[in-house]
Amino acid sequence: MRDRNSQCVVIVGSQWGDEGKGKIVDVLADQVDVVARYQGGSNAGHTVHVGSEEFILHQIPSGILHPRRRCLLGNGVVFDPFQFFQELDALTARGIDAEGRVGVSGRAHLLLSYHKTWDRAQEASRGSGKIGTTGRGIGPAYEDKVARQGIRLADLRDRARAEEQLRRAAARVNQRLELLDTDERVDADALVDELMSIRDRLLAISVDTGRVIHDALKAGQRVLLEGAQGALLDVDHGTYPYVTSSNTTAGGAALGVGIGPTRVDDVIGVVKAYTTRVGEGPLPTEFMDELQERVRTLGGEYGATTGRPRRCGWFDSVVVRYAARVNGLTGLAVTKLDVLDTLDELQIAVSYRAEGEELDDFPGDLGLLATAEPVYETLPGWKTSTADARRWEDLPENARRYLDRLSELTETPIWYVSVGTRRDQIIHVER
Ligand code: GDP
Ligand code: IMO
Ligand code: MG
Repeated sequence: MRDRNSQCVVIVGSQWGDEGKGKIVDVLADQVDVVARYQGGSNAGHTVHVGSEEFILHQIPSGILHPRRRCLLGNGVVFDPFQFFQELDALTARGIDAEGRVGVSGRAHLLLSYHKTWDRAQEASRGSGKIGTTGRGIGPAYEDKVARQGIRLADLRDRARAEEQLRRAAARVNQRLELLDTDERVDADALVDELMSIRDRLLAISVDTGRVIHDALKAGQRVLLEGAQGALLDVDHGTYPYVTSSNTTAGGAALGVGIGPTRVDDVIGVVKAYTTRVGEGPLPTEFMDELQERVRTLGGEYGATTGRPRRCGWFDSVVVRYAARVNGLTGLAVTKLDVLDTLDELQIAVSYRAEGEELDDFPGDLGLLATAEPVYETLPGWKTSTADARRWEDLPENARRYLDRLSELTETPIWYVSVGTRRDQIIHVER
């Protein structure tokens, strides 16, 4: 990692998700012992390329492709056990020795089929006000957690009690489904049978992630805390209600694995060299011309979880400056610079104009944001491939100028620049 004394580092998405967190975690996992996810669930889709192979990880941390790394899911995650084992078995089938290296917090809440049923039914009932969720049951699982009616992994130890909890949950969801325009119902017997069939395998991977990480740090090991989604999808700091249901920002990291915030040494914000968003909600710098299709094609901007086309736009420094503040970023990893290689010129939003005033901070009020017009600065393109750059000096001058300006506007130093999907396509900025 950048600082040799840095033992515990948070990797956090600093736009609307899909910034390339998986790639950056995979690159840095080379130097660490433990990688842990702290929130979200299988709504995440983290892509890692190793050689000619592509892996899309939904719940398993992106460190799993390095041998021997311990990969954990913290208490802050909503844990979908069936999807998890599917993912684990698929890795094993591809020759990755993953089984003995994964652990899930006993305090993590189980995300079960009825959460997905409820997610879909809720979205359908929202009509034009839909959020555009991934349909993975995330909102309902966090609803149950906060309402103190969730089922945690550790609850499975007491089989009879877990069965009772499951039957109560099924009855509750069915009651709610009756009020909606849907014929879907939860079959309590099937729910119990299905979960109990994997109970032993589940209990075998249950750990206290806080304790494991505490001990690792005490032993001088290094830990990466891998965020999912991005700052603008944070339930508190994002574009509410067009957000996910967890604290994606760095404040959620210590909380979501069970260590204290004083243990975190650095927070690296991952940002694309432009902006994307998938699902509904505001995106102030969204392209309104042929660039939408062009950048989507150049960047392969289709969701890793749902396959939906991502909405694309210019880099928004108002967003990333805000993300730098709410996350306490110490460094940036800028990804997908290569996607901009062929553009004649580039725009960066430096502020917004709204209600006759200039805003230099991201507004919390969606009404105000809806009226905000980005104020752009234009920079010349570099019109040269950056894919083979491995040092800062290898980059074309205009690309360096662009990156320097991003750093200045976001008030955060750039530590890494990614210029392609592969592991080796990374610049460790030493300045
Ligand atoms: P995550 O959710 O933040 O891990 O990001 P995703 O995996 O959903 O989306 C990022 C996409 O960009 C993936 O397809 C990556 O393979 C790809 N990617 C990551 N870094 C780069 C890069 O520097 N250049 C290019 N062209 N693609 C990249
Ligand atoms: P990674 O970790 C991009 C978006 C959904 C929707 C909103 C709420 O790959 O960056 P949810 O299913 O969480 O209730 O959906 O959040 N969303 C993501 N967008 N990347 C993700 O994850 C996302 N996870 C959720 O599209 O707008
Ligand atoms: Mg993704």
